[in-house]
Amino acid sequence: MDKLSIVGNGPLRGEVRASGAKNAALPILCAALLSAEPLVLENLPHLRDVSTMLELLRQMGASADQDATQLALTVPQVSQAVAPYEMVKTMRASILVLGPLLARCGEARVSLPGGCAIGMRPVDQHIKGLEAMGAEIRLEHGYIHAVARRLRGARIVFDMVTVTGTENLMMAACLAQGETILENAAREPEVGDLADCLNAMGAQVRGAGTDTIVIAGVPALRGARHRIMPDRIETGTFLVAAAATRGEITVTGTRAQALDAVLEKLREAGAEVNVAPDQIHLKAGKPLRAVNVRTAPYPAFPTDMQAQFMALNAIAAGTAVMTETIFENRLMHVQELRRLGADIEVEGNTAVVKGVARLTGARVMATDLRASASLVIAGLVAEGETQIERIYHLDRGYEAIEQKLAGLGASIRRIT
Ligand code: EPU
Repeated sequence: MDKLSIVGNGPLRGEVRASGAKNAALPILCAALLSAEPLVLENLPHLRDVSTMLELLRQMGASADQDATQLALTVPQVSQAVAPYEMVKTMRASILVLGPLLARCGEARVSLPGGCAIGMRPVDQHIKGLEAMGAEIRLEHGYIHAVARRLRGARIVFDMVTVTGTENLMMAACLAQGETILENAAREPEVGDLADCLNAMGAQVRGAGTDTIVIAGVPALRGARHRIMPDRIETGTFLVAAAATRGEITVTGTRAQALDAVLEKLREAGAEVNVAPDQIHLKAGKPLRAVNVRTAPYPAFPTDMQAQFMALNAIAAGTAVMTETIFENRLMHVQELRRLGADIEVEGNTAVVKGVARLTGARVMATDLRASASLVIAGLVAEGETQIERIYHLDRGYEAIEQKLAGLGASIRRIT
């Protein structure tokens, strides 16, 4: 299994380009199931989760034609409307095929995702919404078996904000008979990117980006071309890494407005942040201050940035209270950060982080994607060598992370 070796060697400096967003790419790939014509995607990131999703779609009859700049995905016919356990257990986002398959084929069998490292993550909202649209759903042998000759529009109020739940129902509603209204919908920018892609395919989706999304069903969708939005979490991760090392970087090809809450916290920590339409410049000359963080659905502070900020708070002046409200088990990086010398106490879903003067390199274990990113940041500021094991988590969601960080001056290498 690959490991990363990082030797803390001072400030990150230079320019780095944002890749396409993983969490926009995954639902958008599934949108290809809604049409028999090609969906051409630009700015698709090279990630393990994207390869896994493509493999799943191929099993269902998709053909993919990829060159250096774009991927053309075509599903002339769905050969089997099944997402098997073997695929879903490796990537929960596989649940995103459920809505499109049901809408296109009238039937779908998708394995129930089990629990996951960061929480229980049930999919009851996806199921409840499809039932409201007329689907008959049985849970049998570990699978969701859904049948609906044609889905019909409905008004659905989510019990909590769910990103993939919103995306699944939005895709299903595109081919339903009549109008669907999604209330308490997720406002994450990736939901908006999916809506843009669906509209380019001929769907009628309004209100994405607000908590009420209205979809007028149409009989069929056509092929389209779409450019995947930049990855705001990757951008945020580089900015936090630069701040923690007291460096100065510019992230290009990104969208600053999708990162408001994160940029605000970086400023509060003492970094200078300047934005242009498609780039963000950060300079962290002064010592950093610890900042309190409470995760919540967009536009508030994202759970996907909590671990990275914990690494920053670990070496900032003062004490930070960090509360995770989205997932019940997303503080697993605490134990590993402690191995590097961080002073962190956990009570329930709250971590109290007391800044220390220095971290020291050690061997640590990545437990999930964003936890891995926090260990990389901690490794960049720690004295001596940090070795991070199980970095396959990192490869799921960060494109060429060691090359990008090395380009900013980090001493980082992969041990295979
Ligand atoms: N929830 C339910 N029932 C449901 C759906 C969700 O109880 O039917 C709960 C979850 O257990 C959780 C909360 O609602 O406590 C929010 O979960 P959500 O459904 O929004 O998460 P998700 O859609 O499974 C996406 C991202 C995650 C990101 C979360 C929150 C994708 C592919 N994944 O997950 O990304 O953390 O939204 O913003 O979009 C990551 O990239 O590292 C990652 C985990």
